[in-house]
Parts: sequence; structure tokens; C-alpha cells
Amino acid sequence: MDLKLSGKTAVVTGGARGIGRSVCQVMAAEGAKVAVFDILAEAAEETAQMIKSAGGTAKAYAVNLSEYASVKDAVAQVKAELGPIDICACVAAITDNQATIEKMALEKWAREIKVNLSGNFYLVKETIDSMVERNFGRYIFVSSRAGMDGGFGQCAYSSSKMGLIGFARSLSLEYARMGVTSNIVFPGLVDTPATAGLSEEARTRIIARNVMGRLQDPEELADAIAFLASDRAKGINGAELMVSQKPAPWSFRPMELPGDEAAMGI
Ligand SMILES: NC(=O)c1ccc[n+]([C@@H]2O[C@H](COP(=O)([O-])OP(=O)(O)OC[C@H]3O[C@@H](n4cnc5c(N)ncnc54)[C@H](O)[C@@H]3O)[C@@H](O)[C@H]2O)c1
Repeated sequence: MDLKLSGKTAVVTGGARGIGRSVCQVMAAEGAKVAVFDILAEAAEETAQMIKSAGGTAKAYAVNLSEYASVKDAVAQVKAELGPIDICACVAAITDNQATIEKMALEKWAREIKVNLSGNFYLVKETIDSMVERNFGRYIFVSSRAGMDGGFGQCAYSSSKMGLIGFARSLSLEYARMGVTSNIVFPGLVDTPATAGLSEEARTRIIARNVMGRLQDPEELADAIAFLASDRAKGINGAELMVSQKPAPWSFRPMELPGDEAAMGI
């Protein structure tokens, strides 16, 4: 199936590694010009080089999503260098908050919400106008099972990912009639640098509640995201797509049984 991404400009946040890097590669292979947004400047450049070596078009931008000015500047540069932005794949996030609520540091809470939630708001705020002008736009956000169910030791991450659901739903209501869609994907456990440090016990526990009963490759997420970014998905708006997870109605129950911190490994 031709996804018709040729000639489109796509911003991919978190494009330096993991799922984001795969999204960059898949979109570039489908013909998009890719703007790799990441705070890891060197690794983002590496992604852009990999794409160029494979014959695609890409440019790396050092962006800190938690700073509005950084996002604003980078978006202006992309518009000047790669043309108006058609697609934003919002993949970047941090998950460094393994602490119960009473132990959660205020700065960690604020940082998680800023990167994982506010950063997406900044990006949409800076890109929506040109999408509306051209009557075409695609936003794809990456949430998490923790965004539906909460997570033991993950109050900030979970809140940011749940907040993202509300944000994406609002966007899907406000701009659908202007050709702009907003959808979310929910990964299972994906084999990326972010999950490399999980203990064997945690890995087994998470895989056990995945309906497919296995780890996912980043490419599986990238394929779903590239499809939602395409013209072929023009009728899909406000969707919350489980990629290997349980369907949403099943998931509104505690993800973990109540446990103590030692049992959860935090
Ligand atoms: N890997 C999984 O099992 C899994 C499961 C559920 C949800 N997710 C979600 O999928 C997405 C990608 O996960 P991943 O495993 O590839 O993560 P990852 O940590 O490997 O990659 C995240 C990228 O985001 C970038 N980033 C972090 N803070 C940033 C900032 N302030 N500004 C710009 N870039 C920043 C990082 O530098 C990194 O390149 C995340 O939203 C994550 O929450 C992942």
C-alpha cells in the first residue's frame, strides 16, 4: 500500500533512538522529509545520517521539548528548511520517576509533566496554523498503558500519559473539520534503550499481561504511526489504538496488584 507520504514534511520527536528512530526511518522510506527532533543532538544527527545513507531526506534538530522557545525556534527552522509541516509524530517522553507519591520529588514531577505533556502542547501550538491553512494535518501521540491504568511508582509518568489522552481527544474535536486528525497509539513493551534496564522479573510480569505475550519491535509501532500519518488514514480521528496491548475496555482495572516497593523493585 502506498502511504502517499511523498512530499510531506514530518516532525518526529524522540527521533534519536528507540521507537522515534524507527518512526523516522519508516516515514522516510515512505517518502516523507523527516525533521528529527531530540534533546540528544548527536544521536538525532545519527538518525538523519542513517536516513540519508538509505536515500531519504532528513535533518536533525536539537530540541528540548520542555522549553517553549526551543520548540518554537525548531519549528520555524523546519518550515524554512523542509517546508510547511504536515505531520507530527509525538514520540518523545521520559520515564525516570520510579518513586511512590510521598517520595516523588517535586522537580521530577514537574519535569515529567513538562516533557511528556507540555512539550506536545508547545509543538501543536506552533504547527497547527499551517496545517489548518492547507487543510491537511496529522498528529500521532504515543501514550502508555500507565496512562490508562496508573502505575505503581509512576504517578508522574502515568499522569502525563493520561493528560496526553485528554489533549489528543480535544485536538481531534477542535480541528477535524479542517482536515487535521489526532490519534494516539498505545505500545506494549517495546525493545528500546528505555526498557533495556528493566529487571528480568519486571519484563516477565509486563509481557505476561500483553495479549501477544512478547516484546515488540520498535518497527511495529512505527508502521502503525506511519499509517495514521498517511492519506490512507484520513477517516481515522480520535482513535486510541492498542498496538499489541489489551483493548481499552478491558484495561480499566489496576495494572499491578497492590504491592510494596520492594516487590515492585523501586
Ligand atoms: N518502550 C516501551 O516499552 C514503551 C511502552 C509504552 C509507551 N512507550 C512510549 O513510547 C515512546 C518512545 O519510547 P522509547 O522506549 O522509544 O523511549 P526512549 O527513551 O528510547 O526514547 C525517547 C526519546 O525521547 C527523547 N527525549 C527525552 N526528553 C526529551 C526532551 N526534553 N526533548 C526532546 N527529546 C527528548 C530522548 O532523548 C529519546 O531519544 C515514549 O513516549 C514512551 O513513553 C514506550
